[in-house]
Amino acid sequence: MDNTLFIHASPHGKHALGYRLAEKVLAAERLKNHSMRLIERDLLAAPLSPLTHRYAAALVSHNIGERPDAALIESEQLISELERTDRLLIAMPMHNFSVPAALKLWIDHVVRINRTFIASAEGKQGLLQDRPTTVLVSAGGMLQGDNPQPNFLTPYLTLILNTLGIQDIHFVYLQGLAFGEPAIANAWRHAQAALIEAGVLSHEVP
Ligand SMILES: Cc1cc2nc3c(=O)[nH]c(=O)nc-3n(C[C@H](O)[C@H](O)[C@H](O)COP(=O)(O)O)c2cc1C
Repeated sequence: MDNTLFIHASPHGKHALGYRLAEKVLAAERLKNHSMRLIERDLLAAPLSPLTHRYAAALVSHNIGERPDAALIESEQLISELERTDRLLIAMPMHNFSVPAALKLWIDHVVRINRTFIASAEGKQGLLQDRPTTVLVSAGGMLQGDNPQPNFLTPYLTLILNTLGIQDIHFVYLQGLAFGEPAIANAWRHAQAALIEAGVLSHEVP
């Protein structure tokens, strides 16, 4: 497999700075892996269905290996995207100190007992294979430095991905975007430096 799943969840769509940085990451990935195939999921342009009573009931009655209930079809499609890919790239804004609602809905469709994780006496164990995962987080305020705001996004998303079985996670922040052009340029540079340090980008790009 040489497939990347790219999930993005910004109301600004392709104009979001996080989306533009993700494009640079994907371009660098294509240079390294000419055979790379991309599955792209835009959670704002193609919103997922809200959770229904049937979904909640099917979620807890599903057992490993069973044919899934019709209410789980969309969930199955999203899980299959994860199963068919061996790299994950997520770009999203921070909304109210945590993940945006569109990404939370994706989480509620893919984190499924007896499908993507099992519960045991030792805790939850993920059933998906680990894969290199880059998470690009855009924020109006600061997340690092002298006076960072509360950040529930990073620990929450880390726990969610760990629950699925994904441990190899790298967060990169585009922060301070509400403070005007110089701050945005600074955030762009810092995020690229973090990606270069992580070996995701090889050099700075405009
Ligand atoms: C509903 C909403 C909630 C937000 N909450 C936060 C927040 O808690 N912390 C923060 O730093 N920025 C917050 N922002 C600002 C966005 O994170 C910021 O505008 C970011 O640059 C948007 O990134 P994007 O261009 O990728 O959508 C919020 C924006 C919206 C629309």
